[in-house]
Amino acid sequence: MKGPLLLVLTVLLNTQFGGCVLSSCTYPPSKWCSSLDSAIQCGVLKQCLESNFTRSHEASDKVEVGLYYESLCPGCRNFLVFSLFPTWLMLGDIMSVTLVPYGNAQEKTVAGKYVYECQHGEPECLGNLIESCLLNMTDLAFPIIFCMESSTDVINNGQSCTKLYQPDLSWDTVMKCVKGDQGNQLMHQNALMTQALNPPHEYVPWVTINGEHTDDLQEKAMNSLVSLVCSLYKGTKPAACGGSKRHFKSYCHNE
Ligand SMILES: *[C@@H]1O[C@H](CO)[C@@H](O)[C@H](O)[C@H]1NC(C)=O
Ligand SMILES: *[C@@H]1O[C@H](CO)[C@@H](O)[C@H](O)[C@H]1NC(C)=O
Repeated sequence: MKGPLLLVLTVLLNTQFGGCVLSSCTYPPSKWCSSLDSAIQCGVLKQCLESNFTRSHEASDKVEVGLYYESLCPGCRNFLVFSLFPTWLMLGDIMSVTLVPYGNAQEKTVAGKYVYECQHGEPECLGNLIESCLLNMTDLAFPIIFCMESSTDVINNGQSCTKLYQPDLSWDTVMKCVKGDQGNQLMHQNALMTQALNPPHEYVPWVTINGEHTDDLQEKAMNSLVSLVCSLYKGTKPAACGGSKRHFKSYCHNE
């Protein structure tokens, strides 16, 4: 997104900016580079660009969307496949996604090992484990998990989905994690994260936004995750939020 944004800004600088009379600057200096509007209104667009205007797109400002889910829960699969993943494709530079496969599973300790019971049985525990290992092993876990969750057979497609998105990650390596202590520890981390939810989750898919869950956020996330993320993002909204045209129209407003 940075490329196109910069291109648009450069074009603006070269064409429109010169002829405009600046309206008075209503932002304090600390906010001058906080948005396109403020930078232009205060006549510092060029300076903001040079001092990393696009900082607003950096990780710390991203809207964090957490999904607490189960690998075989139909509602979870629907949300992940038809909402969360497409939204992330569109808005990946202003949102981050944390996936926690565990949900309503139960943890016990038997002989120093964690043992799990999953809502949709053993296969779901296996699916959760595979996805946890992928999340720990590759930056491409989300596309791979999307591929799995959108398949008819979530678990049996793990291998082909991994091969599709990351051919250099061998399935043996993933399964070594799944069957070993590593996977067991990773699932325990998921159990801890899920148990630490406040308020505690009542169902899955359970969504958190910047670590927070409310009925209102959950409902908005389910209805339109794109609108929710766009509305919560404090930096310059990307074109995918649909706000860029409005910005550009108002540039020379006072002339
Ligand atoms: C802008 O960011 C780049 C990469 O993060 C960095 O190398 C550069 O020094 C920054 N420039 C300013 C003016 O902060
Ligand atoms: C993978 O899991 C180990 C603990 O089992 C942890 O130390 C490491 O930071 C994790 N890596 C990633 C990328 O999540």
